Amino acid sequence: MVILSAHITHKRVLMADIERLGREEPSELLRTLSRLPGVRECAVLATCNRVELYTVTDDGAATRRALEDMINSLLPFDARSDLVLFLDDRESVHHILKVASGLDSMVLGEDQIQGQVREAFELAEKEGCIGPVLSIVFRKAISVGKKVRAETGVNKGCVSIGSTAVELAESKLGSLKDKNILIIGAGQMATLIARHLVGKEPRTVFVSNRTYSKAVELAWALNGRAIRFDSLKNHLIQSDVVLCATSATHILLTRERVQEAMKGRPGNRGLMIIDVSFPRNVAADVAEVAGVQLYDIDGLRGKSEENLLRRKAEVRAAEKIIIQELESLDARIREMRADELISQLYIKFEQIKEREVRKALNRIAAGNETVDKVLEDFASSLTYKFLFEPTAALKEASREGDLDRLSAVGEMFNVEGVSFVSKNSPSKITHESSR
Ligand SMILES: NC(=O)c1ccc[n+]([C@@H]2O[C@H](COP(=O)([O-])OP(=O)(O)OC[C@H]3O[C@@H](n4cnc5c(N)ncnc54)[C@H](OP(=O)(O)O)[C@@H]3O)[C@@H](O)[C@H]2O)c1
Repeated sequence: MVILSAHITHKRVLMADIERLGREEPSELLRTLSRLPGVRECAVLATCNRVELYTVTDDGAATRRALEDMINSLLPFDARSDLVLFLDDRESVHHILKVASGLDSMVLGEDQIQGQVREAFELAEKEGCIGPVLSIVFRKAISVGKKVRAETGVNKGCVSIGSTAVELAESKLGSLKDKNILIIGAGQMATLIARHLVGKEPRTVFVSNRTYSKAVELAWALNGRAIRFDSLKNHLIQSDVVLCATSATHILLTRERVQEAMKGRPGNRGLMIIDVSFPRNVAADVAEVAGVQLYDIDGLRGKSEENLLRRKAEVRAAEKIIIQELESLDARIREMRADELISQLYIKFEQIKEREVRKALNRIAAGNETVDKVLEDFASSLTYKFLFEPTAALKEASREGDLDRLSAVGEMFNVEGVSFVSKNSPSKITHESSR
């Protein structure tokens, strides 16, 4: 039994190819995997930047060939090239522990992957593809991911511009609760920012965009209010935070425009403006308007790079936890290779025991013999039956000069006093008591 996995990830493959593979339904991939030769268990981890196929197989070579064919039928490159990473046993397990901990992610330490590993496991379980090996591997990966995040800072501090922008506003204002927030733009970046506002409980989120329908869409997702691009001024007056993210190549918020909005504000309520656009959409001299705090993308980049460096410094601590957990998991998996044999041995000897017990009870019930005699016969018969096949096998090994087998059995039953001359010496069995 071996664990064999294939990894198509952002580290080696173009995102477009990963997307192409990602369009395959994971449950369909699971069904295909489960039909490959030798495969006993399987799981598929598919996210936007990785597709990983995990198998437990009785025939590593045949499964590997079939996996390559399967990947070749889905992707426009040769799975035998080094674009696809194949791992087995300990390396495979080490990899999934790292993945679940966020160490293999595009954004180091990101949290989303933890849930994606759990979902991959649950889907494979639902499809009946999980057995004892992948069960302990995936459960361990999920728990190690949690442990790494709880005990290290590998996921601490925002590293994306969107999350850093929201984190900055939150840290400067204490909280975004009950604040009015204005998002300018409704493209990719504005959507990312919006995603990080979820759960922050602002009073209102206004979304303003050149194309009004897109503002409506984003506002709807945020439970906010779409506003027309030409009525920005009124909403600037009402806002506490402005997050600007458009691809306009000109200035949208000039000093005059902001100054005017500040005049219309009650009391000395401040305004924070975060411009993540490049080129900038907010004039640099807006920072000189009284009551305005202006941050641009350079400041945000600095903060997210600083956080990324902090996360990188935690990788060693995270790896240490992973290696510790890997040791015990790997030992358990190797031990599991004997599980089936052990369980078959128990079933076999339980059946012998039951037959012998029944025979003994019948003899006692007949009352013709003493209980001592029946018990004596019962124990002898049991011993004889337990040792019948091993005895025959040992005699055969001895005849064939297979001293390693004799040695192994001696060790297994912890028999002392009998030793065997090594395989390379003339076959000779010695008994210490006869020396
Ligand atoms: N995406 C990122 O990861 C990322 C990271 C850091 C910084 N940024 C910066 O964030 C800004 C937005 O990027 P994005 O990825 O969100 O782009 P995007 O998905 O292409 O969206 C562009 C947005 O800008 C608006 N826009 C374009 N031209 C405009 C104009 N002349 N006047 C007013 N609005 C205009 C678009 O409005 P319509 O809907 O009307 O087209 C849309 O809302 C860029 O300056 C980019 O450099 C992006």
